Amino acid sequence: AELEDGSPVRKKPSGITLAYPSLSHSPSKPPPFQQPTQLLTFSYTPDHVLEFNDAALRYYIDPPLGADLGYGYDKWIKRPDERGRLDPLLQAWSRFKKGLCEGPSSSQSRAPDIHVRILIAPYEERDGWELNVMRVGGTLYFEEHLSEAKLKGKNEMEPRHRRQTYHGYAFESYCTTSTPGRREDDSSHVHGWGGDVNTNVQWCSVVKTKLGDRRIVIGGEVDCVRGKYSGNTANFVELKTSLTIRGSADATKFEKKLLKFYLQSFLLGVPEIVVGFRKPSGQLVTTQSFRTVEIPRSIRGRPGAWDPLICLAWGDRFLSFLHDTLPANTGKDVWRVTLSPNLGIAVAKLDALGVEDVMGGDDRVGFLPRWYWDEMGL
Ligand code: A3P
Ligand code: MG
Ligand code: MG
Repeated sequence: AELEDGSPVRKKPSGITLAYPSLSHSPSKPPPFQQPTQLLTFSYTPDHVLEFNDAALRYYIDPPLGADLGYGYDKWIKRPDERGRLDPLLQAWSRFKKGLCEGPSSSQSRAPDIHVRILIAPYEERDGWELNVMRVGGTLYFEEHLSEAKLKGKNEMEPRHRRQTYHGYAFESYCTTSTPGRREDDSSHVHGWGGDVNTNVQWCSVVKTKLGDRRIVIGGEVDCVRGKYSGNTANFVELKTSLTIRGSADATKFEKKLLKFYLQSFLLGVPEIVVGFRKPSGQLVTTQSFRTVEIPRSIRGRPGAWDPLICLAWGDRFLSFLHDTLPANTGKDVWRVTLSPNLGIAVAKLDALGVEDVMGGDDRVGFLPRWYWDEMGL
């Protein structure tokens, strides 16, 4: 039920579908992507309260090689996974508009994750996802939809996976400090930090950019900055961990993984990615710094190669498809976009029960908070 040129066709019962592009050749006319510019930043406190300041901003510092990324595991304060809402981004956007009164008309997306997963879709082999989408006037709003089952799965991670996840956060702690150039106060400690990981604390940047001729506003967590913070994304650093590479199969796996690292940083305008390579035991072996913009060229022709232009062209087509498919006149409708790996995406309008589920008992219009709706004057 899909046409060669990728144009949508009606298909029962899953709604209107859009097929994937071919992965074998680069698009001849890729859409232009505008360098992201930062609109504002905000922080989450240790109790996960949103504040419009830079209290959670951290600075990069070289981690001690050989460090144990399992250190402090038993003390870990893990933020429970919950349905991600667009609210923080809407708060930020509303604040920005009041201060600067710039025109709206933007696609908005919440999570440090979902905009990456949209662009990566042509290469997704395993994990499907669901999105809730609203169209209000010319603006599309996106939030990730987590079913109850998926949410439960996230909060009941198996021990091995949970520990691996912790390694990623511990690496962030070893690599960051709140005072530039100096470790946190207990530097006499063999580990150089207190071993307290609180995943409630986050520093987030909201940027605007443009894909093709669509303006986009996205927000995401930024792990740290290198040197001094100058109020823009120029020295932002993304931190990642990965297993050490011991052979060509490992290298291919890592090259594939770089697509995700690349897109996450590229979309927010983060120019540097520092990868900590670790042993399965959690011991940090070495670090390597990558310039985000140089990654696509470095993997070209490799077994795990990918083409970022395929992702951008797909993103452009995805947004056009939604603009063309969702009627502009019914702002309160909520649409469910479903990705099936290797197949494509399908979109269908939610019924009343579905919309109620999306509202989750809050005072909302669809998934948008009522205050935001009122502010838009609709
Ligand atoms: P690593 O990516 O280094 O393993 P981010 O890289 O986006 O800053 O996220 C920080 C850490 O959060 C990750 O570190 C990982 O430990 C954890 N994390 C992020 N997304 C995750 C996911 N989808 N599942 C499990 N853990 C995740
Ligand atoms: Mg992060
Ligand atoms: Mg990171």
